[in-house]
Amino acid sequence: MSANIVLGVTGGIAAYKSLQVASMLTKLDHNVYTIMTEAATEFIKPITFHSLTHLPVESKLFSTTTSEVKHIGLADKADLFLIAPATANFIAKAAAGIADDLLTTVILATQAPIMIAPSMNVHMFENPVVQRNMLALEELGYKIITPEAGYLACGYTGQGRLPDPQRLVEEIKKELSQKDLQDKKVLITAGPTREAIDPVRFLTNYSSGKMGYALAKAASYRGAEVKLVSGPTELECPLGVDLIKIESAADMKKEVFKEADTADIIIMAAAVADYRPQVYSTQKIKKQSRDLSLDLERTADILTELGKKKKTSQLLIGFAAESENLLENAQQKLRKKQADYIIANEISDKNTAFGSDKNQVSILSEEGSTKLPLMEKDKLADKIFNYIIDAERK
Ligand code: CTP
Repeated sequence: MSANIVLGVTGGIAAYKSLQVASMLTKLDHNVYTIMTEAATEFIKPITFHSLTHLPVESKLFSTTTSEVKHIGLADKADLFLIAPATANFIAKAAAGIADDLLTTVILATQAPIMIAPSMNVHMFENPVVQRNMLALEELGYKIITPEAGYLACGYTGQGRLPDPQRLVEEIKKELSQKDLQDKKVLITAGPTREAIDPVRFLTNYSSGKMGYALAKAASYRGAEVKLVSGPTELECPLGVDLIKIESAADMKKEVFKEADTADIIIMAAAVADYRPQVYSTQKIKKQSRDLSLDLERTADILTELGKKKKTSQLLIGFAAESENLLENAQQKLRKKQADYIIANEISDKNTAFGSDKNQVSILSEEGSTKLPLMEKDKLADKIFNYIIDAERK
């Protein structure tokens, strides 16, 4: 869905990052209207934003070339405001209700949500006056995007860095998402598990965790309180998600069962090891001239155990990774594990193999099965929630 986003840019060096934010939002099909303060135009020329967004860039409150009352037009048109970077001066004026330029006037006139991403020197950021002003804005319903710690352009190291453009875009995506999972508790597992053989070796699988993380992100953006129990992955924790890192299937089971009782929706997207070494060698196993065989024992099937104790108010969703007889095997898992839904995917297809950014799945329930087309995992995660929310409403 395309939205009208007003990007407010105030006079800080981090304004260069806002160019990328404007570009990324435009590529996502949003209309980005930029308002620059006079100080911001010292760092970046308005034409640069205009070239990226193809929409007007404003900085003056008054104009003699249009009859439109500029600040009211932009204030009414906006679905969302992002002020990035926001200087200490802007924050102080906004908190005091001062309207002495276009940006401070528009934000007083709008009813759209306003997100503020402060960026400044660490001592300025920590100054009690700035902290007080941010708190005041937060209490009034503005969303403050906390700056990151790191190297600052002023030469200091500390908190005050404007987050990366991608993170700011994610904040906007989250804000714009429909909140149809508000107040729901969603527990998701993701990634592979590692079953230790000795201090340097383990058994694992090719799961990247991408599908589980995409589901966690979708649920969080849709307003749910999300706990993500994840095996080792390279992925970043999605915004607003509580990440619980584990290694083995036994650790995963422990963490899942801590949260399972209070969850409204449980999704087992992890590729949990079915076997672990019967004996863990505390010393590194030395190489011998003869072959070595490893005795393995079964791990617990977490989904099956969840199915046995599932409450009627809970939704239990499993995955089925199959290399043959997809629907038949997935149907068996649905019944055997007493899940409400099984999301089945063919892992022998290179498009949907472990690690791929795309996936093609069928969703199975007692009612039958529905095949979804091949798509990016982020998009698929949303489709899966759409499907399940719709099916549960019927
Ligand atoms: N699962 C689980 N605990 C395990 C193994 C699997 O909770 N020890 C869950 C997975 O998270 C997934 C579902 O069960 O949601 C199916 O996993 P899958 O690996 O496809 O099937 P398995 O049950 O392991 O059966 P098989 O390996 O024989 O296909």
